[in-house]
Amino acid sequence: KAMEILVALGRIYDAKEMVPVTSAQIAGVSYKNIGDPGLEFMTDWANQNARVHIPAFMNPAGIDRQLWRQLGFPEAFAHKQIEIIEVLRRMGVRATLTCTPYHIGIVPQKGEHIAWSESSAVSYANSVLGARTNREGGPSALAAAFCGRTPRFGLHLHENRLATHRVLVNCKLESSADFGLLGYLIGKQVGNGIPFFQGIELPTDETERTICLKSLGAAMAASGAVALYHIENFTPEAGVYGDRIITQNAGSIEITSLDEARAVLNHEGNQIDLVTLGCPHASLEELKDIARIIGNQQLKKPLWIASSAIVREDARANGILETIEKAGGKILADTCMVVAPLEEMGIKYIATNSAKAATYLPSHQAAIVHFGTTEQCITAAIQGKWKN
Ligand code: F3S
Repeated sequence: KAMEILVALGRIYDAKEMVPVTSAQIAGVSYKNIGDPGLEFMTDWANQNARVHIPAFMNPAGIDRQLWRQLGFPEAFAHKQIEIIEVLRRMGVRATLTCTPYHIGIVPQKGEHIAWSESSAVSYANSVLGARTNREGGPSALAAAFCGRTPRFGLHLHENRLATHRVLVNCKLESSADFGLLGYLIGKQVGNGIPFFQGIELPTDETERTICLKSLGAAMAASGAVALYHIENFTPEAGVYGDRIITQNAGSIEITSLDEARAVLNHEGNQIDLVTLGCPHASLEELKDIARIIGNQQLKKPLWIASSAIVREDARANGILETIEKAGGKILADTCMVVAPLEEMGIKYIATNSAKAATYLPSHQAAIVHFGTTEQCITAAIQGKWKN
């Protein structure tokens, strides 16, 4: 059945053959997104003793497996969610439950073929690491995990990895939030195209740079369907192919201001129920930075930082978790603000530093969103209100 899915996909996209893949990252894990039909589909395969053939791991689910009771997640939802995780586990999928597997040691190499499905992870793997993956759906990534291969089309082929748009950035990007705003604008304009950025000044600090690139890619994948981007003189393929990385009929875009995106993503008013960071899931270095900004201040509003269970344990070992919890914040593992049942929990006004989250929260959680830098978000949690 899995091979049938892959063959059908290959036929649709005119693939000539299959390509072996070294790992699969499976999205569509949250009960909020897949509901009972998704659970039944997976249970059916698990009952037939389906087993993955290559390393495979899960995208975030709808609950934090350790903290869901403490945080008031609905009981019935949690039980269904645990069932989904267990069914996937029975089939051999690792319960990493993160959208940043590259922060927990799963780092595909340049040119490696993989089948990943979380859009921000796809963007990071293709663009920053130079690996090769299409933007898989949950079922096609699972099918690839069972068969160890995927049809060779789209971004598995060099000729489809050339840029379709030249993007000249003529404004200053001062924070990872600004990279998110830029991503939001470009995703809207290029859809599923491939931008080649010129004029971007990347932070020299590696941690800061990684956060900015994650933020840029995640936002483009949310406002559009960008699965690959290049940055002049930086990303692995931009350097190798030089100007030949751009298709002959490439469109041209110039960005001189981020104001338009800020106006769309940041709503009026100052009420907040929750401040949330970590979209995509935070690395240990990001958590360190957040703990540094918080220092020994106390939060008036809940602050949830999404990450993986592995990174949270590292944060515990380093005393970072203690600093955040002392202030009244939480590091949430296994889940995030978009796939957790926040609407059912009565959370309406949400502040975030992520353009991807700010794009999805109004439609996925019926939320009113405030968007700003990490510092602005933490200040809002400390003061109990948002300041524009
Ligand atoms: Fe990850 Fe959730 Fe954002 S899956 S990219 S934290 S929407």
